[in-house]
Amino acid sequence: MKIKRIAARRIWDSRGRPTVEVEVTNEDGTGGLGIAPAGASRGTREAVELRDGGERFRGLDVQAALRGIEREIAPALLGHEVSDQAAIDAALIQLDGTGTKSRLGGNALIATSLAVLHAAAAHARQPLWRYLAQGRTVQLPLPQIQIFGGGAHAGRRVDIQDFMVIATAARSFGEALEMTAEVYRAAGELMAARGALAGVADEGGWWPSFARNEDALDTLVTAIEQAGFVPGEQVAIALDVAASEFGQHGRYRLALENQELDSDAMCERLVGWIDRYPIVSIEDPLAEDDEAGLVAFTRAVGGRVQVVGDDYLVTSADRVRAAAALGACNGVLIKPNQAGTVTQTREALDAAKDAGYATIVSARSGETEDVAIVHLATGWNAGQLKVGSFARSERMAKWNEGIRIEGRPGAPAGFAGRQALGGRRP
Ligand code: PGA
Ligand code: ZN
Repeated sequence: MKIKRIAARRIWDSRGRPTVEVEVTNEDGTGGLGIAPAGASRGTREAVELRDGGERFRGLDVQAALRGIEREIAPALLGHEVSDQAAIDAALIQLDGTGTKSRLGGNALIATSLAVLHAAAAHARQPLWRYLAQGRTVQLPLPQIQIFGGGAHAGRRVDIQDFMVIATAARSFGEALEMTAEVYRAAGELMAARGALAGVADEGGWWPSFARNEDALDTLVTAIEQAGFVPGEQVAIALDVAASEFGQHGRYRLALENQELDSDAMCERLVGWIDRYPIVSIEDPLAEDDEAGLVAFTRAVGGRVQVVGDDYLVTSADRVRAAAALGACNGVLIKPNQAGTVTQTREALDAAKDAGYATIVSARSGETEDVAIVHLATGWNAGQLKVGSFARSERMAKWNEGIRIEGRPGAPAGFAGRQALGGRRP
C-alpha cells in the first residue's frame, strides 16, 4: 500500500511545550499518527531535536521541524510502500544527511517514522503490537513504575531521578499495576502524614521532599510494607540515578548531601544501597562520560542486579555492541526518539538481545497521549517497560493500553514477569 499524504502539525506535550505530530494517510484511506516525545535529562549523543530558538515558547517551538516535513520529507516519501519501514527510515536518514539528525530534526524524523509504522499496521488491520510481532510469540512487559520523581524532573529537589518499583511477584501486567497502585497510594499517604506532600513531579511521581537521597529509599521500603507487600520478594526497587545530570569527569556532586564523590566513591555509595535496600535494577549509575566507572560498577554488581544504560547507550546498536565488548551494563533503555527512527530503535534492541542484555522500552519525561511504546515493548518482546509514574493521563494512557492488550481476544502469550530482569539473582 502506497503513502498518499503526509501532514505535520504542532501539538503540545505533557509539560505544555510544543511537539511534532505527523499524520500519514495511505491510498486506501487507512493511516496513522506519530508523535515526538521530549526528554529533560538527555544523553549528549541522542538524535538532536530541532527547536526554533528565539523568544516564543522559550525557543521550544517546532515550526522549522514542521516545515522540513512538509517541504522535504513529505515530497520524498509520497508514493513509497508504507510497509517498507527500513527503506523509509533509510530515506529519512539520507534526506537529513547529518548523522546527528540535526538538520531536519530527530523530532521530525521519529514522528514521521512512527506515523509510517502505525499506518502500515492500520493497513494490515492489526493492532501495532501484533503487526510488529509478525507471528512470533511475545509477552506483555514487566513495568518499572516511578513512585518519587527527582533530578531534572523535580527541580533537582533530590539528586537521584527516579525511585521506582517493580512488582516482581506479579503474574500478569494487570496485577503488576494493581500492586503498584497500592504502593503509590501508600507512599502518598506517608508523605501526607509527615507534612511533606507537595504534589507530583514531571512524570507523576510524588514530589520528593526529602533531606537525603536515602530518605527516599527508606520511605519507599516503608510504602511497600504498608501496601502489604514484602520488599524484595513481592515488590522490589529500581533506580534511575541519571548520574550524567550531576557527574562529569569522574566527579559526582550530590547537592542534597553537599558532597562531592569521585567515581570509586560514587560506586561504593550505590553498592552500599544495593546491599541495604531491595534494589533489583539501577540505571545510569555513573555518568555517560565515565565508561571505566560503568565497567567497574557492572563488574561489582552486574551478577546480582540489572545495570541499565540510558544516557550512555542512547538507543544505539553500535554503542550497545561496544559496551558489551567492554562489560559495561547488562541492560539497555530503548527510547525511539534517542535513535530517531523506528528501524534504528529496533537495531539497538536486537543488538542488546544478541549481547544478552535486558531491554526496557521507555517513554520520555515529556510525553503525550501516544501509547505506541507499549506496543513496541510488547510486539518486540522487550521484556520491560518504563513510562513514569502511576498518575497523570499521559502515563496512565500507556499503562491502560497494556491492560487492553492483555485483555483482548488473541492477546500475547502471557507476561514477561521477573524473568525479564537482567543480572543474575543470587
Ligand atoms: P528524560 O529522562 O526523558 O527526561 O530524558 C528519562 C530517563 O532518564 O530515563
Ligand atoms: Zn534514564
